[in-house]
Amino acid sequence: MSVPLPVSLPSAPAEFVVLNSRRSTLVLEAHADEAPLWRYWGPRLPDGARPDAPLRDTRPLPSFMLDFDQPLTLVPTFGVGWFGQSALLAHRDGLSFAQAITACEVEWITPQRAVRLRLTDAVAQLRLDVTLALDDASDVLVASTTLTNLGDGVLDVQWLAALTLPLPGRCDTVRSYAGQHVHEFLLQTDPLSRSVWRRENRRGRTSHDCFPGAVVTTPGATDDAGLVYGAHLAWSGNHQQSIEWLHDGQYQWQLGEWLAPGEGRLAPGATLHTPELVATLSNAGYNGLAANFHTELRSRLNWPGGTMKPRPVHLNTWEGFYFDVHPGPVKELATAAAAVGIERFVLDDGWFHQRHHDRAALGDWWPDESKFPNGLGDLVAHVNGLGMEFGLWFEPEMVNPDSELFRSHPDWALQIDGRPLITGRNQLVLDISRPEASDYLFGKLDALLTELPIRYIKWDHNRDLTTAGLADGRAGYRAQVHAAYALFARLRAAHPEVEIESCSGGGGRIDFAVLRHTHRVWTSDCIDALSRVDIQRGYLQFFPPEVMGAHVGTAPAHTTGRTQGMAFRAAVALPGHLGVELDVRHLNQADRNELAGWIALYKQLRERLHHGRVWQGQTADGVVWQLHGDEAATDLTLLAYRIKPSTHRYTPAVRLPMLLADARYLVQELQPAGAHGAAHHTSAPLFEQLRGAGVEMAGAWLAEAGLPLPRALAETACIVQLRRL
Ligand code: DGJ
Repeated sequence: MSVPLPVSLPSAPAEFVVLNSRRSTLVLEAHADEAPLWRYWGPRLPDGARPDAPLRDTRPLPSFMLDFDQPLTLVPTFGVGWFGQSALLAHRDGLSFAQAITACEVEWITPQRAVRLRLTDAVAQLRLDVTLALDDASDVLVASTTLTNLGDGVLDVQWLAALTLPLPGRCDTVRSYAGQHVHEFLLQTDPLSRSVWRRENRRGRTSHDCFPGAVVTTPGATDDAGLVYGAHLAWSGNHQQSIEWLHDGQYQWQLGEWLAPGEGRLAPGATLHTPELVATLSNAGYNGLAANFHTELRSRLNWPGGTMKPRPVHLNTWEGFYFDVHPGPVKELATAAAAVGIERFVLDDGWFHQRHHDRAALGDWWPDESKFPNGLGDLVAHVNGLGMEFGLWFEPEMVNPDSELFRSHPDWALQIDGRPLITGRNQLVLDISRPEASDYLFGKLDALLTELPIRYIKWDHNRDLTTAGLADGRAGYRAQVHAAYALFARLRAAHPEVEIESCSGGGGRIDFAVLRHTHRVWTSDCIDALSRVDIQRGYLQFFPPEVMGAHVGTAPAHTTGRTQGMAFRAAVALPGHLGVELDVRHLNQADRNELAGWIALYKQLRERLHHGRVWQGQTADGVVWQLHGDEAATDLTLLAYRIKPSTHRYTPAVRLPMLLADARYLVQELQPAGAHGAAHHTSAPLFEQLRGAGVEMAGAWLAEAGLPLPRALAETACIVQLRRL
């Protein structure tokens, strides 16, 4: 064994790699013989602004430290001088446990915007290709890493970050989202400190519990002001992220796929691709950050025909009928639905072979012979005849032990030799990475989509993965996610006119990767409007409203037992992709009329609600609001929700700082035809005028002093349109 000499440490001259977008800049210090050093990721610097000196020239060595300074790099590695969390953990059969980049090549894809860093470790015999693309308009950085095993033996990878990001030391808080079934996007606010902050998900899907992303804030950041950073891992499986304090006072933030043991085993020449990391920053607070994420997500959506058509109003049968779907009542419901303005009728669970409860039938994707002896054609024709599209529910990745499919192919379930199968909601997960299993599923769905004009699939996924072993005994979490993406893609290719909804017991699979294949998410199984205010608020930090499934549910709500009036239920659902999830046949005439009025209002507003910006905020007195409008703030719709009884004698005004100070606006309260909303307000002359022809108001006044709100009961909404004059 040769004794290495310290002279082999990197010493090549510095080259600065600078990426700019409209409002952000990223600077790396590249040396030909080591990984690029992070110099900056923050608000836009003027063109030509560069560090004055190489980083190490600015950092005298502290006492009792290594004699070679190792700052944060794009890919910090373990064992050769970096003591923080590394971007890579790997070994070869227990050996070769340390890595350090020995060569760095900078390959520009688009000058100033997109670059690939080819980073080779000649000793560990591997290469990391890190791709960074910064979008000018949205300030969103999309990054990913590909690891190639250049050695002639197997490389076992335990962890590979999609990217390591620097965060300035003045960041003090991280806002992430926890949750559970019927309570997604539960905001969790943690202080940053010298302790590592970490969130991990090993449930095999994006999960309700741990959203793969977070927002990091600097002191004083608010909804509309202050520097905030955000990142999201576009991935529908296991994931981990951590934020760690470093000794130069900054933090490093890593996000990546959490690999189960053995999932990162690379044969010679093999590669491991990380999911994409989507990261951005804004000097305009949480709302500025949300706008960046929304722009990026919109660019990913793959609409039938290339553009989004106005989001059709849904009727989803689930909470109206549950499993009890019979052609007669379903047709009656369709007729009643069409009469209130529904445009797409979605037949949820319960329609397929022997599916009468949740204990049987998943996998047997043909119409139940007792309910639909002649198939679904008659029902689809009835729905189409009423002018509505027809949509159908599937849960392709699942199988009930009590099903024809499982009886024929028990080996198709994910399983581990010698371990009992663990059911969840009485079901098992199919190993869809088996070509015969995915071919079977494709065949069944394709047959129905070919036979009938089905234009929409609600694609569900109702359990976490356990004993997720593949046929050869290896862990199958990662394979399962890739196989699901492939199945989505295959169906979309065969039926490009079909839209897909990503549902997973509500919001268990909401992420930027699944939304490359799908067009709507079912945000939550909780349709209680009060709970939904919070859930949708968290959701909107990352995702735009037009893909947010939002339904008017029953009163009382099935998942909470709470009762809210039709107006509040409808107003909370209104800004999303609106739907109705109740048995319209049983509504009294007044409620039916009111629902029809809300649907008509939605149709009038949807173009405005589903394009452009969303700003969110709250007053000190229990009012939570969101404002939808164009970037130039000329045409806006405010939805103000009173979620708690007022504790103030006079309702505080809503400040709208995004309005143009030198413009005048016509402000008008919007009410659907047939609404009973007036009863919830104590009126005053201004509000009468707002309800009538509207009131002209100064942008500067609304921005700073605010818009007065009527005094209202809890669980009511006020919708106001502001148009620049
Ligand atoms: C869970 C979904 O979130 C519900 O909307 C419904 O589709 C059921 N599954 C059906 O089993």
